[in-house]
Amino acid sequence: MKHFINLKDIPAKDLRKIIADAKKRKSLRKKLSTLEVDKGAPLKGKLLIQMFEKSSLRTRLSFYLAIKQLGGGTLTLRSNELHLGQGGESVADTAKILSTYGDGFMLRTDSDKKVENFAKYISIPVINGLSPSSHPTQVLSDVFTVEEIKKKPISKLNICWIGDSNNVLDSLIAASVKFSFKLSIGCPKKFEPGKEVRAWVKKNNKQIYIFNDAKKAASNADVIFSDKVISLNDKVNKKKKIQAFKNFKIDRTLMRYAKKSCIFLHCLPRGNEVSNEVFLGKKSHVWQQALNRVHVQKSILLYCFGKLR
Ligand code: CP
Ligand code: NVA
Repeated sequence: MKHFINLKDIPAKDLRKIIADAKKRKSLRKKLSTLEVDKGAPLKGKLLIQMFEKSSLRTRLSFYLAIKQLGGGTLTLRSNELHLGQGGESVADTAKILSTYGDGFMLRTDSDKKVENFAKYISIPVINGLSPSSHPTQVLSDVFTVEEIKKKPISKLNICWIGDSNNVLDSLIAASVKFSFKLSIGCPKKFEPGKEVRAWVKKNNKQIYIFNDAKKAASNADVIFSDKVISLNDKVNKKKKIQAFKNFKIDRTLMRYAKKSCIFLHCLPRGNEVSNEVFLGKKSHVWQQALNRVHVQKSILLYCFGKLR
C-alpha cells in the first residue's frame, strides 16, 4: 500500500508508471465517462472513502467515476457531519475506524498537518485531494494531458505558469523536478513561490525561472497554465491581491508571446485571471484536462492499492 500525498515524495519512476498505465487504460475504454467497469475489475469490492472539508466538483466526481470504473465503490463524507469535525473525536480514532471499514481514504482539507496525521494513524492509503501546499492528483493528470495533446514527453516542452503561487503551482514545481521540464513562472514580486519550495528545487539541483513580467514568462511557451488568483479560503485582502495581478491576465495579447502552437490549461474553477476568449478559444483544452482526472486517478488508485501492472 502507498500514500499519494505530495509529488515531491513519490519516486519519478512511479509517477511515470502511473502515467503509462493511465494512457493504456484510457485507450482501452470505449466510453470515457460512464460507470461501465474495466475488464478484470481490478478494485472489485474496494471502498474509497472521500472526505471534503472544502468545496469540490471535479475531484469529487472524478474519484467517483475512477473507483467505479475499476469495479469498486465510494462513499463521500462531510467532515462537519462527523465527530471529528465537531471536535469530539481524534484524528487517530477516526483513522482507525476508516481503516476498519474502508480500503482507501481521499481527503481535501485546509490543513497539511491533518493530512500528515491521517497518514500517521491510518493503515489504508491516503490520497491528498488538495491541501494548502499541494494538489498532486490534479498536476499528475495535467502532465498526462500535456503529453497527450503535444504527443511528446513533457521534458521537451516549455511550460509556463501565470498566476498565484498556490498549491497547484507547488505541485507543478515538484512535477518540473520529477519530470525534468522547464518551468517559467509569471507573477508579481510579492506573490512569488515560497522559500521552502525554492530550496527544495535547489537541493535537487534543478531550476525554476521566475519573472515579474507575464510577457517574459510566456515567451516561447508550449503550454500556459493558470489558476484562480484567490484560492478557496484564501485569507488575504482580495481587492489588493486582484489589483496586484492586473498585468497578469491571460488574454489573446499575452498568448501571442508564446509559441503559435501554445495550448492553455486551467484546473478550474476559474476567476478573472483569464479572458473568456482564451478560456473558450481553440488553444484551450480545459475540458479534456478535467476529464483526464478520471483516467489518471484510476492509475493513482491502482498504485496506492499495490495493483499497478
Ligand atoms: N480542479 C479541481 O480540483 O476542482 P474541484 O475543486 O472542483 O475539485
Ligand atoms: N488553487 C485552487 C485550486 C482549486 C482546484 C484552490 O486551492 O482553491
